[in-house]
Amino acid sequence: MDLGIKNKKALIMASSKGLGKSVALELAKEGAVVMICGRTEADLIETANEISQINNAKVHYVVGDVASGSDRHKILTQAKSKMGTVDILVTNSGGPPFGNFEQHNEQDWENAYRLLLESVVGMIKGVLPDMKKNKWGRIISITSQAVKQPVEGLILSNSIRASVVGLVKTLSNELGAYNITVNNVMPGYTQTKRLENLIAKNPNLLKIAEEIPLGRIGKPEEFAAAVVFLASERASYITGVSLPIDGGWIKGI
Ligand SMILES: NC(=O)c1ccc[n+]([C@@H]2O[C@H](COP(=O)([O-])OP(=O)(O)OC[C@H]3O[C@@H](n4cnc5c(N)ncnc54)[C@H](OP(=O)(O)O)[C@@H]3O)[C@@H](O)[C@H]2O)c1
Repeated sequence: MDLGIKNKKALIMASSKGLGKSVALELAKEGAVVMICGRTEADLIETANEISQINNAKVHYVVGDVASGSDRHKILTQAKSKMGTVDILVTNSGGPPFGNFEQHNEQDWENAYRLLLESVVGMIKGVLPDMKKNKWGRIISITSQAVKQPVEGLILSNSIRASVVGLVKTLSNELGAYNITVNNVMPGYTQTKRLENLIAKNPNLLKIAEEIPLGRIGKPEEFAAAVVFLASERASYITGVSLPIDGGWIKGI
């Protein structure tokens, strides 16, 4: 199937590693021009080199912290100057700290808000004028399975990411008239550095696979395949959805 996104311009947040990197790789395989971002330049250079090996893919990188307003401004300015426009925006960030309610103070909540919600709002605001003008856009937020089924010890993520789902659903109503789709993807346990770190801190998590109907942890490329489809021309009539990519982990219907 031709996904119809050759030469579309894609900005993928938090993408030097893990899920974001995998999405950038798969978008590049479909012929999209990609811009990756993260806080560590050495990792960005390595990932940009890796992506550029794919059919001479066009890839740019920008160093920036998505939780910082001035860095977001820099990222958006670079995207405009290097790619001209952003057709596909994939929002993502690192995860907030672990802990239960009594372990977090008000500053932790504010930091989590900046990282998980303000970053998404800020990036969408930045790309929207061009998407509206071009009458074509794909916005995809990466949240977590935790928004449908809270994960123990992740109160900051469980709470604030759920607001991103409200944002996405509301925006899908507001932006449909401009041929802009807005969707949310909810990764389940997926084999990335973050999950490896989690398991190192809590070896009990090795038993996770037993709770997953498909009986295993997901691969980043399996996650990315679904995101790339939502980013494609072929997904032109899908908006406002929250798609789990979790091997069936979420138990609700
Ligand atoms: N993997 C899973 O099983 C899973 C499941 C559910 C939800 N999630 C969520 O999905 C997101 C991505 O997870 P992952 O597993 O891909 O993590 P990862 O392997 O640790 O990769 C995180 C990427 O984001 C970048 N990043 C982190 N914080 C950033 C910031 N403030 N600004 C810009 N870039 C930033 C990192 O680069 P720098 O550190 O250099 O900035 C890196 O490129 C996280 O929010 C995580 O909580 C993951």
